[in-house]
Amino acid sequence: MRALALAIIGGTGLYRWSGLTGIERHAIDTPYGAPSDSVMVGQVGAHRVAFLARHGESHTIPPHRVNYRANLWALHHLGARRVIGVNAVGGIRADMAPRCIVVPDQIIDYTHGRLDSYCDVAGAEVRHVDFGEPYSASLRAAVLAAAHRAGVAAIDGGCYGATQGPRLETRAEIERMRRDGCDLVGMTGMPEAALARELELDYACVALVANWAAGCADAGEITLDEVLANVAASTAQLVPLLSGLLDAGTTA
Ligand code: HPA
Repeated sequence: MRALALAIIGGTGLYRWSGLTGIERHAIDTPYGAPSDSVMVGQVGAHRVAFLARHGESHTIPPHRVNYRANLWALHHLGARRVIGVNAVGGIRADMAPRCIVVPDQIIDYTHGRLDSYCDVAGAEVRHVDFGEPYSASLRAAVLAAAHRAGVAAIDGGCYGATQGPRLETRAEIERMRRDGCDLVGMTGMPEAALARELELDYACVALVANWAAGCADAGEITLDEVLANVAASTAQLVPLLSGLLDAGTTA
């Protein structure tokens, strides 16, 4: 299987990659069940790239029902070694306003009941992967350098708080998360990052701030229209950013 230069997992509002040409679809059956959708493999310029819609291309899979294990296994099987998870998030920190792009460096997991490890087969080796730095430092640096070259503002670092969803949070929950040190809130950051580590993939998150989190700044009622409009605006910047990342040929 020819190696992929990059795999992209798209979140809410991102169901295909506009720069991807010559797309072949791979419907992959994994030992963990079916991924969220078929994986699109195509070209971005001279580079072979895979794209998978985390919630399915019709957005029918809620965050707690995403088969994160199958998604990452499928990308790994197709030859991915570098994976970027794109996640719509709410902004908690004052400088993380809607339409900001953030490359977080930490994560706190508030999810529960998700299948969050490949180490759950009786008799299989139990591994305690190091997760002190949950994202690949080299891939984060490559994303930030590409953003700089593309003239796209991207915030370096921040703590992603992963909630269970699918409901949004209460103001009190967000206040608690702020006290915990969270800068962003989203529903899909975990277990994706941990599973990527178990598979020894280089994984980084690109968080697109879609709204103020509950009770932050001028947050009123959070609507899907607001979320989708802000994600679309940020995605327009992400496309040249990731093309630049590929052209730099950084091997993370
Ligand atoms: N909370 C949780 N997940 C989200 C949010 C939010 O405010 N916005 C986009 N994804």
